Amino acid sequence: MTTGTETGMADEITITIDGVDVTTTPDKMVIQAASDAGIYIPYLCYYPGMKPFGACRMCVVTAEAPDREGNYRPLPGSPASCTTPVMPGMRVTTNSDDIVELRRGIMDCSYRSIRTAA
Ligand code: FES
Repeated sequence: MTTGTETGMADEITITIDGVDVTTTPDKMVIQAASDAGIYIPYLCYYPGMKPFGACRMCVVTAEAPDREGNYRPLPGSPASCTTPVMPGMRVTTNSDDIVELRRGIMDCSYRSIRTAA
């Protein structure tokens, strides 16, 4: 029997996004794992296949991951899903009221800065 590591392929891990179990590989960012599973996370500066930039913050999520003892700890703040790597057992929420409101504020701020610059 060969493992993913022996064949050069990354081993699969499971994370939970909005309560759905998603199987992915540890080399992915959260937004990639979500997209592969058909879960949409809004974004502006992310482009599949390019190095994540992490500038617009539209892809923010809330996430928690288990520590070594298996206790879940929240990731600090509201991480950008395009620059946050998946972790085994991670739980991600993409569409809570708080996250939607945060994105709305980010979009409003971006819009105002564009209007001011124009
Ligand atoms: S899509 Fe712009 S920060 Fe993630």
